[in-house]
Amino acid sequence: MNSKQQTVKLSDGHFIPVLGFGTYAPQEVPKTKATEATKIAIDAGFRHIDSASMYQNEEEVGLAIRSKIAEGTVKREDIFYTTKLWCTFHRPELVQFGLEQSLKKLQLHYVDLYLIHFPISLKPGENYLPTDENGKTIFDTVDLCATWEAMERCKDAGLTKSIGVSNFNRRQLEMILNKPGLKYKPVCNQVECHLYLNQGKLLDFCKSKDIVLVAYSALGSHREKKWVDQNTPILLDDPVLGSMAKKYKRTPALIALRYQLQRGVVVLAKSFSEKRIKENIQVFEFQLTSEDMKVLDGLNKNIRYIPGSIFKGHPEFPFSDEY
Ligand SMILES: NC(=O)c1ccc[n+]([C@@H]2O[C@H](COP(=O)([O-])OP(=O)(O)OC[C@H]3O[C@@H](n4cnc5c(N)ncnc54)[C@H](OP(=O)(O)O)[C@@H]3O)[C@@H](O)[C@H]2O)c1
Repeated sequence: MNSKQQTVKLSDGHFIPVLGFGTYAPQEVPKTKATEATKIAIDAGFRHIDSASMYQNEEEVGLAIRSKIAEGTVKREDIFYTTKLWCTFHRPELVQFGLEQSLKKLQLHYVDLYLIHFPISLKPGENYLPTDENGKTIFDTVDLCATWEAMERCKDAGLTKSIGVSNFNRRQLEMILNKPGLKYKPVCNQVECHLYLNQGKLLDFCKSKDIVLVAYSALGSHREKKWVDQNTPILLDDPVLGSMAKKYKRTPALIALRYQLQRGVVVLAKSFSEKRIKENIQVFEFQLTSEDMKVLDGLNKNIRYIPGSIFKGHPEFPFSDEY
C-alpha cells in the first residue's frame, strides 16, 4: 500500500499526501535513528515527511531521502517534504536564510512545504530557546505579517512549493488572511490534534477557508518530559479506543489515525520502530462507520499534551479555551 495515491489538493494547486511521517524524537535518541526510520518509512510507502530546523535532524532525514532517490525507490517529486521556520528566525530578513540553512543540511534544492513553526518570536541567535540569567524565555517583537511576506518570497524564489503555518489559532490565521496585499494564503495549519483534543471548531474554520488542518501528536505525542506533563493520560490506553480496535481487528494507533483521515484531516504519525511504521501505513486498509466516528468524537476532553509552556505569558500565546 502506498500513501502516495491518497492526497488532498492544497489551495495553491499542489497536493499533500494525507498520511505523513513524523521525524521528531526526544533529545536522548541518537539522530542517526532518523535516517534509519525515514528509509524504512519510504520503503513502507510513506511519501510525506515532516521535519523542522528545530528538530536538528535535517541532515539525517535528508540523507535518507537522497539515498532512496539514488537507489531508485522514489524520485524527488514523489516525496512531499515539510520543514519549519523556527521562532528565532521570524525577522523578515532571516526567513529565507532559515530555509536555505535547512536546504543545505538536507542537500535538496527545494522543500514542498515551509511553515511558520509557532506564532511567537524569540530573540535571534544561535540558541533555539534563548533564556535570560533567571531562565526566562527571551522574546522578540516581530510583525508576523512581515514574516509571512518573507515566506511568500521564498515560494516565489522556488525554494518551497507551498507555505503555511503551525500552532496558529483562529485569530492569528485571520490576521494573515486579512493582511492587505496578501499574495498567498497559508495552505495549512499544523496543530496538535487527537482524540482528546479534536480541534473541531478550528477544523471547521480551516475548512471554511480552504486551509488543510494537519494533525500532530495524533497518537498521543512523544511524551518527552521537557514538553509534556507526565500526569496526562496515555491516549493509546483509552478503553473506548481499545474496544474499538478489537472490533475492527486493528490497533488503537490505527483507529486514532483513521479517525483523522475520515474527518478530512491530514495526519502525521511518528515511529522509529520498523514494526509500527509498517503498521501505521495500514490506515488505508479499513474504514470506520459514521456511528463509530461519533463515538470517537465523544472522547474529546481538551487535553493538550504539548502546552507550549516556554511561550506562556506572551500576549500572542495561541492556546486558550478559544480556538
Ligand atoms: N508543529 C509542531 O509544533 C509539532 C509538534 C509536535 C510534533 N510535530 C510533528 O508531528 C510528528 C508526530 O507527533 P509526535 O512526535 O508528538 O508523536 P505521535 O505521532 O503522536 O507518536 C507518539 C508515539 O507513538 C508511538 N507509536 C507510533 N506508532 C505506534 C503504533 N502503531 N502503536 C503504538 N505506538 C506507536 C511512537 O513511538 P515509537 O517511535 O517507539 O514507535 C511515538 O513516540 C512529530 O514527529 C513531528 O514531525 C509537530
